[in-house]
Amino acid sequence: MATARVLSMNASRPGALICGLAAAVVALPLLSQNQPPSPGEPLVTIKDLMEKTITPATDQLWRVPETPTNAEWATLEEAAITLLAAGQVSSLGGTGPEDKEWAAQPAYQAFNQTMIAAGLDALKAVRERNTSALLAAGDVLYPPCEGCHLLFNPGVTGAQASE
Ligand code: HEC
Repeated sequence: MATARVLSMNASRPGALICGLAAAVVALPLLSQNQPPSPGEPLVTIKDLMEKTITPATDQLWRVPETPTNAEWATLEEAAITLLAAGQVSSLGGTGPEDKEWAAQPAYQAFNQTMIAAGLDALKAVRERNTSALLAAGDVLYPPCEGCHLLFNPGVTGAQASE
C-alpha cells in the first residue's frame, strides 16, 4: 500500500520516481549484511558449535532425571536432535582458522561419527522413553569428545576435568 502510494505520488514527477526506485534498489542489500552463502558452506566455527550447541545438548543428555516428565522428555528429545544436527555440521568443518584442516583428518571424522552414532542411540532411547538405554547412550557419548579433544585440542580436556 505504502509503496503504491509513493509510486503514484511520484508518477507526475518522473525524476522523483527514478530516484525512488534507485533508492529501493540500493536499500535491498540492507535486508542482509551478507551475500547468501552457498549450500554446505560453513557458517560458524567448530568452537561455536561445541560451546553453543553440543555442550548444552550433552549437558541435558548426561543429566537424565530418574523418571522424566513429559516436558523433560521433550527437552531430552530437543537435546538429542541438536546434538545430531550440530554433529553433522561439525563434519563439514567451520569458519575457524584451523577448522577445515581438522575436519579433513580421518580421525576427526571417525570421532565425529562415533559421537553422532551415540546421538542416534540417544534419540531412539528418548523416543522409546527408555531411561536405561538413554544412560547407556550417554556413556558411549563421552569417549569421542575426549578422544577428539586429545588429538585436536588438548587444552579442552583440562577444561572438562576441572568442571
Ligand atoms: C570430532 C572432534 C570433536 C568431537 C567429537 C567433540 N569435539 Fe569438542 N572440540 C573439538 C575441537 C577441534 C575443539 C576446539 C575448537 C577451537 O578451539 O577452535 C573443541 C572444543 C570444545 C569445547 C570448547 C573448549 C574451549 O576451548 O574452551 C567444548 C566445551 C567442547 N569441545 C565440548 C565437546 C563435547 C561435550 C563433546 C562430546 C559430546 C565434544 N566436544 C566432541 C573437537 C571435537
